[in-house]
Amino acid sequence: MRLRSGRRQKADDRPDAEAPATASGLAVELRGVRRRYGRGAGAVHALAGIDLALARGTFTAVMGPSGSGKSTFLQCAAGLDRPSAGSVRLGGTEITGMGENQLTELRRSRLGFVFQAFNLLPSLTVEQNVLLPMRLAGQRQDRRRAEAVLARVGLADKAKRRPGELSGGQQQRVAIARALVTSPDVIFADEPTGALDTGTAAEVLGLLRQAVDTLGATVVMVTHDPAAAAWADRVLFLANGVFAGGLERGSAEQIAARMAALTARPGAMAEAVA
Ligand SMILES: Nc1ncnc2c1ncn2[C@@H]1O[C@H](COP(=O)(O)OP(=O)(O)O)[C@@H](O)[C@H]1O
Ligand SMILES: [Mg+2]
Repeated sequence: MRLRSGRRQKADDRPDAEAPATASGLAVELRGVRRRYGRGAGAVHALAGIDLALARGTFTAVMGPSGSGKSTFLQCAAGLDRPSAGSVRLGGTEITGMGENQLTELRRSRLGFVFQAFNLLPSLTVEQNVLLPMRLAGQRQDRRRAEAVLARVGLADKAKRRPGELSGGQQQRVAIARALVTSPDVIFADEPTGALDTGTAAEVLGLLRQAVDTLGATVVMVTHDPAAAAWADRVLFLANGVFAGGLERGSAEQIAARMAALTARPGAMAEAVA
């Protein structure tokens, strides 16, 4: 792997890396984002005009029927895919015109990722996995910082283990520690509890919730599970590539009812956003 010496700030040089967010400014801003796959008559409009502004220190869940554009949304919002039109700003930085190297650097140093399949490197220890974003970004590998985030997710005693020696829930907690280590502008989570049982899922969601409430982290989570989405401050519903309403502080039952309505009317157009 390529190690780079960076010009960017080290995570521990940032002001108040551990302090609650000042709640000023937007963490994520999408304007008129469209993503089309293919051309002509066979084109699929996976995202058909997305406008979104998420404040720092918020926890947002994105839900929608299969094929509604959730994965495409997450990929475009996180700089992993390029929109066909529109603009994306992360932590106040316009990423739309960025080149591949710049985008890679931004993802490493300013974004955190938690995936369904954990995506830990099996040959590295837990601590080395947590330090990986710093290593890849060419930052000093701050072992005390790794220790602190591992303690935060309840794995202080597992630093020297390898992922294969841990349970699924523990592995996902390592992934959360890895996502937190650089104090990123945004943590993107794609079905983070999809491979976990209910009890373990609740632990993982509780940690994401805690990161928002006590560290001022900003979390954007795609999920199909109403119980998972209920941990968020707000649920946004996607249908046919557009947002079709939202729900603030909804219960799992309320969220499930909205999902059922969306799924029952697959042709439904966007309703007024709450
Ligand atoms: N690489 C691709 N090529 C062509 N069509 C795609 C591609 N990825 C996704 N799509 C289509 O875009 C739409 C949205 O897909 P996706 O974002 O994966 O939805 P979701 O994650 O909600 O299931 C679907 O109709 C899907 O078939
Ligand atoms: Mg998907």
